[in-house]
Amino acid sequence: MPIYKKFALVYDQMDADLHSKRMVPYCTKIFKRFSIKPSVGLDLCCGTGSAISAFEKLSIKMSGLDQSAEMLAITAKKTKKLKVKLYQKSLPKFRLLDLHDSQKIVQFDLVTSFYDSLNYMLTEKDLATAFKSVYQHLHKDGWFIFDMNTPLALKTIWDEQVYAGVKDTMAWVWENEYDTKEKKASCHATFFKKKGKVWERFDETHYEKGYSNTTIKKLLKASGFQIKGFYNCNTFENVTRDSYRVCAIVQKK
Ligand SMILES: C[S@@+](CC[C@H](N)C(=O)[O-])C[C@H]1O[C@@H](n2cnc3c(N)ncnc32)[C@H](O)[C@@H]1O
Repeated sequence: MPIYKKFALVYDQMDADLHSKRMVPYCTKIFKRFSIKPSVGLDLCCGTGSAISAFEKLSIKMSGLDQSAEMLAITAKKTKKLKVKLYQKSLPKFRLLDLHDSQKIVQFDLVTSFYDSLNYMLTEKDLATAFKSVYQHLHKDGWFIFDMNTPLALKTIWDEQVYAGVKDTMAWVWENEYDTKEKKASCHATFFKKKGKVWERFDETHYEKGYSNTTIKKLLKASGFQIKGFYNCNTFENVTRDSYRVCAIVQKK
């Protein structure tokens, strides 16, 4: 079942983009700490483009990639004046080619990916392929910064939990489960959106997989990255077994 279709229309209304908005000030601290001075960046799985808008304000010329045409349409609307390049592509394997030289791969100083997006890679092989694709799209010494849910977060926050919310013109119910053995979570999301006097219902099922810190690090190293920071997200404290979200800061050497 395709995901992030009609969900795109309510994503920002639900404040689902809040996390990525918060990641940008965190990234500015990361830039300072590691002396990162990016000029061109790519936000991978950019969703509705809130991080792109915020990075552009820091004078980083951004591009965005997402599998969802609907999410990209919202990003395009939001970033209309910025002439951001948007790619509708699916991970794990992606290849962005230069418009003027089809032999040349487009490269960036910075690639980011926020809010569980890489947890959508449901096998170790796919996560490894995604890391390798990112590596190819970075300049030498370029940086990749991303966050991921840990298996503990999926178990604690997702398993057998129901989340619901209501706003003036929309409502949602999310029923979540977690398979401890597979480290795989599912979220059956039902949305209601008011259209005139009628409430329209739509449903999507999302799957995320949790990876151990050891596995993420192993796959990053196998892709050629040097791990510079592996933190409890939004802090500069090392990840522990109790962390719910990791933030990896890695460099192409
Ligand atoms: C939780 S949203 C995060 C969006 C945005 N980064 C944010 O922080 O608000 C996950 C995003 O990943 C995208 N996505 C999921 N699987 C993908 C894949 N295989 N390839 C490309 N994009 C994918 C979805 O379309 C969605 O926009």
